[in-house]
Amino acid sequence: MFPKAELEATARALVAPGKGILAADESTGTIKKRFDTIHLESTPETRRAYRELLFTTDGVEEFISGVILYDETIRQQAQDGTPLPQVLSRRGIIPGIKVDKGAKDLAGFPGEKVTEGLDGLRERLAEYRELGARFAKWRAVIDIGDGIPTRTCIMANAHALARYAALCQEAGLVPIVEPEVLMDGSHDIERCAEVTEATLRAVFGELYEARVYLEGTLLKPNMVIAGKKCPRQASTQEVAEATVRILRRAVPAAVPGIVFLSGGQSPVQATENLNAMNAMGSHPWELSFSYGRALQEPVLQAWRGDPANVAAAQQAFYHRARCNSAARYGKYTPAMEEAAAPVA
Ligand code: 13P
Repeated sequence: MFPKAELEATARALVAPGKGILAADESTGTIKKRFDTIHLESTPETRRAYRELLFTTDGVEEFISGVILYDETIRQQAQDGTPLPQVLSRRGIIPGIKVDKGAKDLAGFPGEKVTEGLDGLRERLAEYRELGARFAKWRAVIDIGDGIPTRTCIMANAHALARYAALCQEAGLVPIVEPEVLMDGSHDIERCAEVTEATLRAVFGELYEARVYLEGTLLKPNMVIAGKKCPRQASTQEVAEATVRILRRAVPAAVPGIVFLSGGQSPVQATENLNAMNAMGSHPWELSFSYGRALQEPVLQAWRGDPANVAAAQQAFYHRARCNSAARYGKYTPAMEEAAAPVA
């Protein structure tokens, strides 16, 4: 029914040793927020120039296995006319695509959301495959607060993720299943662990019911971490141990890889946490990254929309990708940051 061998080969290539994913699938609204931080107007052309800068960074294919694109980007071309997905695939980087239509208010459950986008998804996936995509992403968000999340919210999101994943596999695309427990709020690390474990158990229950082929799937979870406003922030070691503990309970070993989101952690923190987990020893799955902000923040700061800064921005991207690649082996050290400080 599903092209199992191809799905598994793609999933494994995305978590190949030393490699991880760049999430560059910001919607038009989100990329505008990112460009606002550098006082750059968001237009189709500035967005195109920025994505081309990322995708043409020399040598980054050593550390980056795949890039998640947005609908606009998968249809854009580099300056020389090459479609952006082909810019990636020619360098051995696998193009992917965000296919959800965003988290909308869950009726009857104030403060909670459910991700939409299942209607017409089969047809959209077929088109994205034609355009070169070999994997996809769907993000569900679970917020922690007073009396939330509810079981209803967790189940609604888990069910949608499972229906999305099955449609992807039918179309020959590896589904990245992303249930993100947000780090906004003042909850402690224990509460994050409890909610993340409950969410992941629900998600894998639904994936099973939907007959999703786990060997051809990747999981993109949050790390287990205290809320941003929690007075007690956990150490790197605590985050690593708590995250691995609940992943071992909830994620079947058939899943080839777990590719974390950065979710608002600083770039260095996201690298350190991934490094600590991989330094703990071998795990049933590859532990890798699918970072958006943690890979891109320093790039945007170096670029600021000025063509004269493209080389410095690419250097910043190369550097963060290299640090996260080292973290895949538990071999990242703070000295790597100094060694490669950008020439001002
Ligand atoms: P962050 O790493 O910035 O959380 O983005 C990853 C992502 O793709 C969220 O859906």
